[in-house]
Amino acid sequence: MSADPAALLDLAARTAREAGELLHARRLTDEVSVAHTKSTPTDIVTAMDTASEALIRDRLRAARPDDTILGEEGGSVPGGSGVRWLVDPLDGTVNYLYDLPAYAVSIAAEVAGEVVAGAVFCPPAGELWTAVRGAGAWLNDDPVRAGSVHELDRALVGTGFWYDSGLRARQAELLRHVLPRVRDVRRIGSAALDLCSVACGRLDAYYETGLHPWDWSAGLLVAGEAGARVGGLPGEAASRRLAIAASPAVFDELRSLVVTHGADVVGSPVVAVGPGRVPGDS
Ligand code: IPD
Ligand code: CA
Ligand code: CA
Ligand code: CA
Repeated sequence: MSADPAALLDLAARTAREAGELLHARRLTDEVSVAHTKSTPTDIVTAMDTASEALIRDRLRAARPDDTILGEEGGSVPGGSGVRWLVDPLDGTVNYLYDLPAYAVSIAAEVAGEVVAGAVFCPPAGELWTAVRGAGAWLNDDPVRAGSVHELDRALVGTGFWYDSGLRARQAELLRHVLPRVRDVRRIGSAALDLCSVACGRLDAYYETGLHPWDWSAGLLVAGEAGARVGGLPGEAASRRLAIAASPAVFDELRSLVVTHGADVVGSPVVAVGPGRVPGDS
């Protein structure tokens, strides 16, 4: 079966939209009550996280039965085609629980270990973000470009926090050093939307420690294709230790702030091997 990135994007985009519409239609219903918690009491899963993941898995399996699927809520499927889907069926679960309009479905397609297509759909805004490696990034039908801020003190910076209280304390300590150096900080509550915000200049930069590949894969491609610089620790791709996207001129300064003042966050064994670790993670 073909692994043409444009065809993979088409499937990702259609599926993200369908799952997002399901989430939106069922918000504020009894199905949105917390089903269980995962790594910590703050790490919640609702019945709609799993319903969205089941829909996505069914659609991907029906269209491409030999592909591998890695889904956040355990809906993973092995496959032998060389294509792997990275699925966050509901990014921003806490926002969804409170009906804050910043949640999304994120679906990325990886071929031979490289993300080649990604779609992020935000139902309350009706915004579909898409990207194909080497071909650009779009918001609905329009191409998007990242901002071009040149000084970090003029940069609006997004970040997020893990569900582990010990790690959160260290993330707060890092934030204490970042906040005085930037225009301001936003905590939107959805890593995928943070990254898409960098893609269109709604944020100038974003960093987070402790994410999983399903959180960043689609959004990081969108941001990179929109002209942002994206990566992880120096010399590395994005990883659980650090995912960062920024206007190119402020990328190095922001990353060195994070590396200098967040050494015990990015080096934390919780981030490296903690609950929810993905097999094959480095
Ligand atoms: C979370 C969100 C949040 C980020 C957390 C993620 P979830 O994903 O993206 O913004 O700060 O690190 O785990 O659990 O809502 O899919
Ligand atoms: Ca989650
Ligand atoms: Ca997520
Ligand atoms: Ca999720």
